[in-house]
Amino acid sequence: MKKLIINGKIVTATDYYKADILIENEKIAAIGKKLNTDVDEVIDAKGAYLLPGGIDPHTHLDMPFGGTVTKDDFETGTIGAAFGGTTTVIDFCLTNKGEPLKNAIKAWHDKSVDKAVIDYSFHLMIGEINDEVLSELPSIIDNEGISSFKVFMAYKNVFQADDGTLYRTLETAKKLGALVMVHAENGDVIDYLTKKALAEGKTEPIYHALTRPPEIEGEATGRAAKLTELTNSQLYVVHVSCQDALEKIAEARSKGIDVWGETCPQYLVLDKTYLEKPNFEGAKYVWSPPLRDKHHQDVLWKALKSGELQTIGSDQCSFDFDGQKSLGKSDFTKIPNGGPMIEDRMSILFSEGVKKGRITLNQFVDITSTRAAKLFGLFPKKGTIAVGSDADIVIFDQNVERTISAKTHHLAVDYNAFEGMKVTGEPISVLSKGEFVVKNKAFVGKAGKGKFLKRAKYGEQLDINQEVKILM
Ligand code: URP
Ligand code: ZN
Ligand code: ZN
Ligand code: ZN
Repeated sequence: MKKLIINGKIVTATDYYKADILIENEKIAAIGKKLNTDVDEVIDAKGAYLLPGGIDPHTHLDMPFGGTVTKDDFETGTIGAAFGGTTTVIDFCLTNKGEPLKNAIKAWHDKSVDKAVIDYSFHLMIGEINDEVLSELPSIIDNEGISSFKVFMAYKNVFQADDGTLYRTLETAKKLGALVMVHAENGDVIDYLTKKALAEGKTEPIYHALTRPPEIEGEATGRAAKLTELTNSQLYVVHVSCQDALEKIAEARSKGIDVWGETCPQYLVLDKTYLEKPNFEGAKYVWSPPLRDKHHQDVLWKALKSGELQTIGSDQCSFDFDGQKSLGKSDFTKIPNGGPMIEDRMSILFSEGVKKGRITLNQFVDITSTRAAKLFGLFPKKGTIAVGSDADIVIFDQNVERTISAKTHHLAVDYNAFEGMKVTGEPISVLSKGEFVVKNKAFVGKAGKGKFLKRAKYGEQLDINQEVKILM
């Protein structure tokens, strides 16, 4: 099957130009003008942007949390992702202390293998370091192609690891070629503050935010950066929400420490007052870290612009308002943390970022796709439009306007945290490895078509073995 996309404007992290794209055998076979090839299908992009498929480096699909399981699994979650222009997700594989890591990886493969409609990979949670864990890790990187580890500095008595574990994970990652990701909040202090609040009868959703102040995120971020310096390792801070954390990242980077930062759509456009919505509606806006005072948004946007923050993850982790978020009606600590973000991640960054002049179009591509591909060992197979890369292409209408709503999103969850928000720009059609997943805004993909991606080690490129055929 050969396809030719005509009349589009190709946008990468560095370029912007008009050219046609020839697709053959899942890959981009040529980019140029007047490609006189015999093709099975000509796709007219009608002046739309042609973007590399988005890479969402932070999802929790089919994940157990707080006595329940996320509403969206690898099928509904990746369908939503595709509608939003994302063609690769990297999900967090949770592990259990005392159990072989390979069991957790198998469990995550079982959740995803027949369900994903786009390609996917896993990060591996590290909750403890011991001889068994150390003996498993080399093969997990080399054979399973999982080259990023996640350490939680919060969620005491659930996911939280101690500083010794973080230190040893950083040390091991440096030796083996993996990137260490941290959820940076001081879990011990949060544990104390939440117990204190409950004892004082403070049970409403807003206390979720008030018991996890920005200083606690800043402190943990600085601590993780310091341990990265000590081990001469590499660190990626997930879901950065505030100035306090950002300052620690910027300080580390200015000293040449290998620290990267991700933020999420919610921290860029929503603020702490959402947690005060009446009738328990504030529960829809419970994330960890929590939404912040509005002034932090400006700082995050500037950091995306300046490059102090490099990526945007959705932190997709959806729970129904009815039945799931409501578990915390009389105790905010029982509200499952997280929200449905996978579908609107790119639209929000485009509309609020590019259209409002906060970031450039090339930065948009870098932040939503290219940088994640490079950091997580998927480049240049994923993350760009180039000859030899996978034909993961988004035909993106940069002018269309729409209103975000749970009535029209494609996720299984019963609300949308951006309900009523007007955005400009929307994917019209989305191709994954040369095949339509979304065509003219209709789903045409298939569960199980998405494949697990083995990734290169940190700092290395995937070998794509493709000859350059034609260039302009
Ligand atoms: O509130 C959040 N972020 N839920 C998902 C789990 C995590 O901490 O990333
Ligand atoms: Zn987290
Ligand atoms: Zn403040
Ligand atoms: Zn998360």
